[in-house]
Amino acid sequence: MLTFEENELLCRTGPGTSMGELFRRFWIPALLSEEVPTSDCPPVRVKLLGEELVAFRDTQGRVGLVDAYCPHRRAELFYGRNEEGGLRCAYHGWKFDAEGKCVDLPTEPPESNFKHKIHITSYATKEHAGLVWAYMGPKERKPELPELEWMRVPPDHVYVWKWIQESNYMQGLEGEIDSSHLAFTHRRLDEEPPVTTEVGVPAPNAIYAQTDTVPRFDIKERPGGLLIGAWRDATEDTYYWRITWFLVPFYSMTPPGGARVYVPRDDESCWVFGVTYKYDRALTDKEREAWRSGKANGTPELIPGTWRTQRNKDNNFLINRELQRARYYTGIESFREQDIALTTSMGAIIDRTKEHLGTSDAAIIASRRLLIKLARALQEGQEPYAAYHGEVYRGRGVALLLKKNVPFDEGAKEFIKGANLF
Ligand code: FES
Ligand SMILES: [Fe+2]
Repeated sequence: MLTFEENELLCRTGPGTSMGELFRRFWIPALLSEEVPTSDCPPVRVKLLGEELVAFRDTQGRVGLVDAYCPHRRAELFYGRNEEGGLRCAYHGWKFDAEGKCVDLPTEPPESNFKHKIHITSYATKEHAGLVWAYMGPKERKPELPELEWMRVPPDHVYVWKWIQESNYMQGLEGEIDSSHLAFTHRRLDEEPPVTTEVGVPAPNAIYAQTDTVPRFDIKERPGGLLIGAWRDATEDTYYWRITWFLVPFYSMTPPGGARVYVPRDDESCWVFGVTYKYDRALTDKEREAWRSGKANGTPELIPGTWRTQRNKDNNFLINRELQRARYYTGIESFREQDIALTTSMGAIIDRTKEHLGTSDAAIIASRRLLIKLARALQEGQEPYAAYHGEVYRGRGVALLLKKNVPFDEGAKEFIKGANLF
C-alpha cells in the first residue's frame, strides 16, 4: 500500500505535478502517424498529461502539436483550417505554424506588430515506428528517443495501434508486470496450456503458471528501469521463469515479445499503445489488419470512429456468466479486455491506501517505488538518467525453463537483451 500522498504523487501527471515533470523529461508517444496521414490533412485532438492539444501536419509534412485553444478568444483550433504552412483559426482567421508562431493575424491593421507578440504553446515532435512523439519539457533538456527493440526494427516490421483505457495509467502498467494474475485472469477452463520440458527455449504459455500459483520474484534495477524475473516450480531440476521489463516511465516488455506503452491522457484515463513487431521479418498486411481490428488477441475491439473499447465499464465488458462457468475464468472472451476489465474495475484512480499487498506483488511495489524515487530526485535537481541514454531501453520479455542453479539474467541473457540490430 501507499500513503495518500504517495498515491497522489504517483498518479497525478498534470502541469506542475512532480510526476508530470518527470514524464515531461521524456519523449512521449502522442498519436499514430496515420492519424495525420498527409500534408494539410484535418487536425486531430490529442490529450496528453492533462493538456488539451491539437495535432496537424503542415504543408511541408511536419507535425505541429499546439494548444487546443486559440490565444485570441479561445476558439478550438480543431475547427480550424490546415492550410499553407499553418493552422488557421476558423473564428477570426489567426494562423499558427508548427512551432506555435503566429504567422498571420488578418483582423489587425497591416502596420500593427501585434502578431509578433502572439505565440501559442507548441511542443517539439518527431516521427518514429509509426508514432508521432512529443517532447513537453524544458527546451534545453531535450532527451533521446528510447532504443526499444521495436524502435530499432525497419518500419515495415512494426505496427502500433492504440486505444483508451478508462483508468489512471499506473493501474494499466501494474497489470503488465503482475505475473501472478496469469493463473487466474487469463485461464481457460476448457483447455490446458502445453507442458514443456525443454530448457532455454521460449515457452510463453507453459502450464507452470497454473500449476504453481505462487510466483517468487527476483527483481533487478537497471539503468532503464526494472528487469523482473518471476519463477515457479516446473520440473524436478528447473524453474519456469517469466521475465518482464518495466522501462521508465511507462513502457512494458512482456513475453512473448509484447510491448505496450501507458501514456496518461489525464489522471483518470490513458492512451495504451499496443505494439506488435518482428525483429527478423516484415509484418504481413493480414497481421496488421488483425492487430488493428482487435482480432489478434493483443488489442481490443474499438467502437468504430473512436478510441474507446467496444467492451467497456458501461456494458460490464460484456461479461458472460455462462462462459465464466465453462470456458474463461473471467467470463470475458477477449484476452486484452480481460486485463482492461480488471484494472479499470478498481476505479479511475485506485485508492492504494486500502490495498493489502503480498509477496506476489513484489514487482508492483518496486515499480511504484522507482517512479516515486525518480520524481522526487528530479525535484531535488537530479535528472532521470534514462531520458538521456536511449540504449538503456534495449530488452525483450521472455518466458522459459531454466536449471534451478542458473541465475535468470544469466540463463536468459540472449533473449532479454533483445536482438542486436545495429
Ligand atoms: S478565437 Fe481564434 S482567431 Fe479569434
Ligand atoms: Fe494480463
